Amino acid sequence: MAMLLMTPKSKSDSWVKHLRAQDPGLDLRVWPETGQTDEIEFILCWKHPLGELKKYRNLKCIASLGFGVDHILRDPDVPPGVPIVRLVDASMIHAMSEYILTAILHHTRQFDLFQQDKSRKMWQARRPLHPQNVRVGIMGLGHLGVDAAQKLRLLGFPVSGWSRTLKHIEGLTAWTGPDALEEFLSQADVLVCLLPLTRETQGILNRRTFARLPAGAYIINAARGEHLVEEDLLSALDSGHLSGACLDVFREEPLPESHPFWNHPRITITPHIASLTDPRTVAPQLVENYRRVRSGLAPLHVINIETGY
Ligand SMILES: NC(=O)c1ccc[n+]([C@@H]2O[C@H](COP(=O)([O-])OP(=O)(O)OC[C@H]3O[C@@H](n4cnc5c(N)ncnc54)[C@H](OP(=O)(O)O)[C@@H]3O)[C@@H](O)[C@H]2O)c1
Repeated sequence: MAMLLMTPKSKSDSWVKHLRAQDPGLDLRVWPETGQTDEIEFILCWKHPLGELKKYRNLKCIASLGFGVDHILRDPDVPPGVPIVRLVDASMIHAMSEYILTAILHHTRQFDLFQQDKSRKMWQARRPLHPQNVRVGIMGLGHLGVDAAQKLRLLGFPVSGWSRTLKHIEGLTAWTGPDALEEFLSQADVLVCLLPLTRETQGILNRRTFARLPAGAYIINAARGEHLVEEDLLSALDSGHLSGACLDVFREEPLPESHPFWNHPRITITPHIASLTDPRTVAPQLVENYRRVRSGLAPLHVINIETGY
C-alpha cells in the first residue's frame, strides 16, 4: 500500500520531509512519479489535475491538503464511494481568527484613512468605531467561524452567525438557513464570509446580499473567491452603500494585473494567506488517517459528499 502526494502547483519538499518524519518507513510517492498505480491507496492532494483521481483503482481515501474540499469536488471524475477527508488544525484556526480580527480592527481603527492622511502629511485625529457599536455577522459557523466569533466577542463586538443547521453557541446570536438570511444580514455592520464553497454558497456575496446589509457595511471574504460576484461588490462600493472590503481570495488567483480591485481605494487585498497550511502541524493527522485506513478503520474528518463540505 502506498501514499501519493499530488500537488502539481506547489513544491513537495516540505510535505515529504514532515510526512516522513512521522513514519520513516512510509511508501510515499510524489506525483507524477506514481509507480504502479494499483498500489496507491491514499492520495493527498491540492489542486490536482482534473480526471487524474479515477486512474487509481485501489484508492481508499482522498485527503485535502487544506480545510476546503471544493478543489476535489470540482473534478467530475472523483471515484464514487471513496471517502474524502479535510484538514482540521488548531494553528490554522487560530491564524484565520487572527486574520479576521486584523481586518476588522484595521476597519474600526480607520487605518486606511490614516494611511491616506500620511501621504498628505496630514495630522488628523479620527475617533475609532467602538466595538460595541459594530455588529459582526459571520457566514459559516464551522471550525473557523466559531473560533473567530469567540475571539471577537472577547474584544466586545456583538457577534451573530449564520449556518445551515441550528447552532447554540454561548453569547452568539445564531441564524439558520435561507429563510433567516435577510434578517441576519440586516444587522451585520461587518459581514465575514467563512463558508465552504458549494452549489448553495457559490455567488452568495452578491447584489441582493449587499442590499440587505446596513448602509456603510464592510465585507471580509476569507473563504473562496467564487463566493463573491465581483461586479456587484464594485457597484455596492461605488454607490457608497458599502464602506469597504478586505479580500483574501479571488475567482482568479493570482489576481490578474488588470483587475479593477487592485486600484480600488476601498478594497484591501491579501494573496490567499489568511490561514496557510503548515505541513509540520498537519502531517501527524494525515499519517494517522493513513494508518487508520490501512487498518480498516474509518478516517477522521470525512466530508459529506451530499452537502459538499
Ligand atoms: N483563505 C484561507 O486561507 C482559508 C483557509 C482555510 C479555509 N478557508 C475556507 O474556509 C471554509 C470554511 O472552513 P471551516 O473549516 O470553518 O468549514 P466547516 O467547519 O465545514 O464549516 C462550514 C460552515 O458553513 C456552514 N454552511 C455550509 N453551507 C451552508 C449554507 N448553504 N448555508 C448556511 N451555512 C452553510 C456550515 O453549516 P452547519 O454548521 O450547519 O453545517 C458550517 O457552519 C473552507 O471550506 C475553505 O474554503 C480559507
